[in-house]
Amino acid sequence: MIPHIEKKNGLPVLLVEDKPFILLAGEVHNSDSSSPAYMEGIWDIAEKLGMNALLLPAPWDLIEPEEGKFDFSLPQALIDQARERNMRIVFLWFGSWKNAECMYAPAWVKQDLGRFPRAQIEKGKNKAGRQVSPTIPVKMPYTTLSYLGEETRKADAKAFAAFMGFLKDYDEKRQTVVAVQVENETGLLGAAREVSDEADALFAAPVPADFASYMRAHTDTMTDEIRAAVLSGKEEGSWSEVFGTAADELFSAYHVARYVNAVAEAGKKVYPLPMSANCWLDKGGAPGSYPTGGPVSKVHEVWDFCTPNIDVYCPDIYVPQFKAVCDEFTRRGGALFIPESATHSYCAPRLVYTLGRHHAMCYSPFGFDDIGKPFTAVQGFLFGMDVSDPALKTPQNFEEYGAFGHILREMMPMLAESYGTKRLQAVSAETDPVIPAPDGNPFGAIPPTMSFDGFRLSVRFQSPLNPRADGACLCLAVSDSECWVVGSACGLTFTSAVPGKPNLDLLQVEEGRFENGAWIPGRRLNGDETASLSLEAPAVLHIRFFTYE
Ligand code: DGJ
Repeated sequence: MIPHIEKKNGLPVLLVEDKPFILLAGEVHNSDSSSPAYMEGIWDIAEKLGMNALLLPAPWDLIEPEEGKFDFSLPQALIDQARERNMRIVFLWFGSWKNAECMYAPAWVKQDLGRFPRAQIEKGKNKAGRQVSPTIPVKMPYTTLSYLGEETRKADAKAFAAFMGFLKDYDEKRQTVVAVQVENETGLLGAAREVSDEADALFAAPVPADFASYMRAHTDTMTDEIRAAVLSGKEEGSWSEVFGTAADELFSAYHVARYVNAVAEAGKKVYPLPMSANCWLDKGGAPGSYPTGGPVSKVHEVWDFCTPNIDVYCPDIYVPQFKAVCDEFTRRGGALFIPESATHSYCAPRLVYTLGRHHAMCYSPFGFDDIGKPFTAVQGFLFGMDVSDPALKTPQNFEEYGAFGHILREMMPMLAESYGTKRLQAVSAETDPVIPAPDGNPFGAIPPTMSFDGFRLSVRFQSPLNPRADGACLCLAVSDSECWVVGSACGLTFTSAVPGKPNLDLLQVEEGRFENGAWIPGRRLNGDETASLSLEAPAVLHIRFFTYE
């Protein structure tokens, strides 16, 4: 079968060539993949980092430079490059939306404002100032295509269908391209909804009855804010009457999501690869400060209703609250697919954590070729360098990411097989900090602990023996007396979880590496090395133990 998503052990899993596949990926900077020659060096870096896939823009303006005339030479060259390196691709359809703007719409779309109307965040204006943030008193000129533009939606859908047709013809047999993201960070900035005369009329008209009743029937999974708005509204009436304080945002979400679904549907009819929608997070801000209508977690019920052709909503995570965002995006049982994440020193630990804890479908640092380099001012702003955590101000070490990347790429089939089970778990210093002892004794701190059938593994981060703040540890239990551990900057303590057998002793601790799926043992660790078992740099250990009375 072509790449598709199936539930395994209750969790949606990506299957490529009919086998579970984890995207150990990287997303390139927006302009890199416009030049296959430039990309050669980027593929090299991806290989060094142990990645098995890249997320690459497929820009509408380069693919359909003139209406109806398509040029697929760029995606074709990128697919050829991936094949040479045994890598996979997720294409990012930069169509009507790119970061809530329309930069990648072809010139013939941008220039025809009559046929392809712009969103109005100020009545009658095609471009208007938007406040960037409540704390920065500057208005930036803003324009984007209207989410109500029927002709725009049709043109985008037609182009996307042609693109998917090309992928089917060129790649169906080889399965180099395993998924496609439809649009990029959709939504409207500067206002909670469009305010053109057309938008105002639709907003004052009755909410479609099927949508209103769907929302009332799905309040159990909603965030408190949206649930309260839905429950306090009328069963039918205008958007304000039905959805009260959330009306503007739900109106935008309804129209953006329907638009995205129409584009995805046109593509899926031709070649039904898994399709995703990525998200610029709301960061607790007011609608309009983030792209409103995009798939932020509080409007997932709206997107569920409107987008049967989108398989997964994906957070772009540049904020420090990594754990909270992962939890938010998986709260309703969906797969975790992170197409973009920051390249500071939690970058590699987050890879370990998302695979081990959330059984992620994809983890992908954005602009991964920056790993190891000092931050630019823009990255500093994006990654939250203004907060106190020094790990957020430190670039990810290149070799360490590569070490984890290679270990996990080799282990990918066995990790993927354990997805959806309790046999695979992980903790990290960022997401599971140790709980300090009440008396401040660093040796008395309570470490995070993973519980498996038969044993427990406690992981000491930031202890006197492992002072680094960017530790992570993944454990894959093979049985109740054997496991694989992947981690760094942590100390490990195994204890028994077998009733009546409270004691546990180690029998074998082996370091080593996987090559073509086979385990090549290195040193047998014992004595000083296991007296206080620690992983300093990224490594994998094969451990056996037994429990007794
Ligand atoms: C999020 C976007 O989705 C990416 O394409 C890129 O613009 C990054 N932001 C830049 O940090």
